[in-house]
Amino acid sequence: MLTQSTYSTHITEAIEQAQFPTDPPKLYDPIRYILGLSGKRVRPLLVMLGADLFAFEDMESTIPAALAVEYFHNFSLIHDDIMDEAPLRRGAMTVHKKWSENVAILSGDALLVKAYEEIARCTPTKIPALLKVFNRMALEVCEGQQKDMDFETQDLVAEDDYIAMIRAKTSVLLGGALQMGAILADANAEEQELLYQFGVNLGIAFQLQDDILDVYGNPENFGKQVGGDILCDKKTILRIHLQQRVGAQDAVILDNLVSEPDAEAKIQTTKELYAKYEVRAIAEKLKEDYSDRAYEALSKIPVADQQKAALLDLAQNLMVRTH
Ligand code: IPE
Ligand code: IPE
Ligand code: MG
Ligand code: MG
Ligand code: MG
Repeated sequence: MLTQSTYSTHITEAIEQAQFPTDPPKLYDPIRYILGLSGKRVRPLLVMLGADLFAFEDMESTIPAALAVEYFHNFSLIHDDIMDEAPLRRGAMTVHKKWSENVAILSGDALLVKAYEEIARCTPTKIPALLKVFNRMALEVCEGQQKDMDFETQDLVAEDDYIAMIRAKTSVLLGGALQMGAILADANAEEQELLYQFGVNLGIAFQLQDDILDVYGNPENFGKQVGGDILCDKKTILRIHLQQRVGAQDAVILDNLVSEPDAEAKIQTTKELYAKYEVRAIAEKLKEDYSDRAYEALSKIPVADQQKAALLDLAQNLMVRTH
């Protein structure tokens, strides 16, 4: 068993060594660009730690699966940034702002194909099982993304529907990454399922933290536009609880904000309402509930505690992340 930082170094090297063609530049430059920006690279690490949990010896063979999930994630971010009209990603211009939306659509598509190329490089006997998990996960991400967009124009979104949406758009990728690691390490179905549950619950807590950071992140290191969710009327966990709590007068203010043309005013007024109705504490509490569920699933996996230390450490760090 190696340390988490050794795995992270392997992942960084594998991403740096990946070769993409140069022609046409507008297809491949954006791929090199987004992969070169310093993302946290959590998901490929989850693939490796998912295998490491079961004391897998051939860790080198997990690299293609790790790359596949990171490529898929970056593909989803390129398209997500078009959908969310986001100007900034990882502290740099988004692909569609730096090039154009058409370039972002097609280079995103090509990156998705590159993800499948990596799956094809995995241990041949494992490919059918890996593909099953990967494909289910990939479709669920699309389903979640569509619900996320649908909710923008829907005033009342129930918390359960929101949780189902973030489970799909974000959490299944974390769960799927871990399960792919477990598959490579020959874990049995029950172990795979528990690890997947760990990842999905962790992923829900991760997206709750993402919603919180979108409002309260420090612009110096957040890397994305603070207040972006407010500007596109995203039904985040904060917004949903605000909607449930606002008094009649504030409800009118909130309704009018949809058509507020001044971005700063829209963000400021929404933040004042969040403070007045103390919705951040609700989100933080829910985040803890889901991280507890994650730890519970992890505790049920029948391997020694020391094998779980790296995953536990990563999970705890993600809950207090600032970017
Ligand atoms: C961003 O994911 C998209 C979400 C699901 C919230 P990350 O926060 O892992 O982004 P990077 O890869 O580190 O930039
Ligand atoms: C991202 O959700 C989910 C996917 C990219 C599939 P967000 O839209 O909240 O992610 P960020 O905040 O832009 O990273
Ligand atoms: Mg987004
Ligand atoms: Mg989005
Ligand atoms: Mg977000």
